[in-house]
Amino acid sequence: MTEKQTNIESEDTLTNRQGHPVTNNQSIRTVGNRGPATLENYDFIEKISHFDRERIPERVVHGRGAGAHGYFEAYGTAGDEPASNYTRAKLFQEKGKRTPVFVRFSTVIHGGHSPETLRDPRGFAVKFYTEDGNWDLVGNNLKIFFIRDAIKFPDMIHAFKPDPVTNLQDNERFFDFCANSPETFHMVTIVQSPWGIPANYRMMQGSGVNTYKWVNQDGQAVLVKYHWEPKQGIKNLTQKEAEEIQATNFNHATQDLFDAIERGEYPEWELLVQIMSDDDHPELDFDPLDDTKLWPEDQFPWLRVGKMVLNKNPEDYFTEVEQAAFGTGVLVDGLDFSDDKMLQGRTFSYSDTQRYRVGANYLQLPINAPKKRVATNQSGGQMQYKVDRAPGQNPHINYEPSILGGLKEAEQTGKEYTPHIEGKLVRESIDRQSNTKQAGETYRQFEQWEKDELISNLVSGLAPCDKRIQEKMIALAEEADEEYGRRLKEGLANAPAEGSSQKPLGNKDGDQAPEKAIEKGH
Ligand code: HEM
Repeated sequence: MTEKQTNIESEDTLTNRQGHPVTNNQSIRTVGNRGPATLENYDFIEKISHFDRERIPERVVHGRGAGAHGYFEAYGTAGDEPASNYTRAKLFQEKGKRTPVFVRFSTVIHGGHSPETLRDPRGFAVKFYTEDGNWDLVGNNLKIFFIRDAIKFPDMIHAFKPDPVTNLQDNERFFDFCANSPETFHMVTIVQSPWGIPANYRMMQGSGVNTYKWVNQDGQAVLVKYHWEPKQGIKNLTQKEAEEIQATNFNHATQDLFDAIERGEYPEWELLVQIMSDDDHPELDFDPLDDTKLWPEDQFPWLRVGKMVLNKNPEDYFTEVEQAAFGTGVLVDGLDFSDDKMLQGRTFSYSDTQRYRVGANYLQLPINAPKKRVATNQSGGQMQYKVDRAPGQNPHINYEPSILGGLKEAEQTGKEYTPHIEGKLVRESIDRQSNTKQAGETYRQFEQWEKDELISNLVSGLAPCDKRIQEKMIALAEEADEEYGRRLKEGLANAPAEGSSQKPLGNKDGDQAPEKAIEKGH
């Protein structure tokens, strides 16, 4: 009998991808049982050459992640008002309406198998499979970001990732970038505090960070920010606790999420929005389009709009989590962009990288495709899986317009939102930068042990750095809050200067932080 001939084939019989049953998966085909091997051994060559291509390019940031499926359930309201006053997006309209979701949580800086205990923001990306097509809310756990202009993102990421020569992460490069980009100081204050190491993915907040718009049926828009609040509570780690976990388990956050869902303890988050009228708000001392700023809760209360439950683990990590592609451009009717310069830059970047990372037809993969019908005239490109043809469509008409058949434009529902924009084309930073004020407010809101941990992390991270970097960081802290500046200055004056700055962010010797984790909200 040859390799391809077999009489017994059942459901679980091993085959190759041509459907040929594999009768020997233990030995390659050789001349005699000691070799040499022959080149026509198709099964072996298929198997090994597919294996050689098992990895696709890793995400350039947010390489390490974990995902889960679930649903979003709308309250039908935004606070006390019907949601329809602000947005016509269908997923928010009816109380109890459910929309399937897929969520990917991640760390930002290091690669696919890096420890999940590192000091880093965490990604919180949600894909809503709505009846109008997909909406992606690509957020982080923290409510603000380091920079406010997209052109700085590649430099920021270069500074935060390992040194191009030594391949070691280097606090000096991190603080050098931050000290020379004062808008980072609020985010640095949060990331160097215990809020920089969430205990796991279930017990952290989420935020859209950037400013978006909501548009209602009359074509009226408001500015909006999104927040996820975990029903499990919030829990962050001290540096010492993180190091203890990392010593025995560098997958703890993925494991925590997976195990909780397997046990039937489905994590839940409530979705809240803050709303502002759609204008420049000259009365505020910050710009509403600046993603380094919090919108004060007393002026812009958080309005509850729905909840999300994650109740199903992926069946295959690569197919669903690794190949998932989220982007800030993926909005549905009733949701819109603002002029936030970070958001505009991000919106180009995501689908651009995904065409490279996953391939031109990444939107045909089941995890990325909408759960509603798709009918386009796009075709070709590597790995095209099917034609996006409507039932009964004339297959010859892959263009529009036509009187011979083919696809037709959709009707506009609701009044189109057409903002009027005029101004000089410039390359300038925004006015009202207010780089350190909110950092001071955040510092003053911290509990004493959080302040101690922040100072301890900053001192140990900055101590081996160039004095000019230290001085700039002290000046920023002094500008933010007198006590904050003084404590950082004193800490650095008393810190031993020896040692290498080439350590993970905030990783320090002689940790003095309390040994408890915090469980609270901010
Ligand atoms: C991932 C670019 C700012 C959240 C990514 C990826 C790129 C990118 C290229 C990889 C995407 C992929 O391979 O699928 C940028 C640029 C930014 C920016 C250019 C600034 C101009 C932000 C901000 C946030 C954020 C402010 C938080 C609100 C995320 C998340 C992911 C991600 C959560 C991972 C998505 C996933 O799980 O697949 N970003 N990003 N990014 N980014 Fe950004």
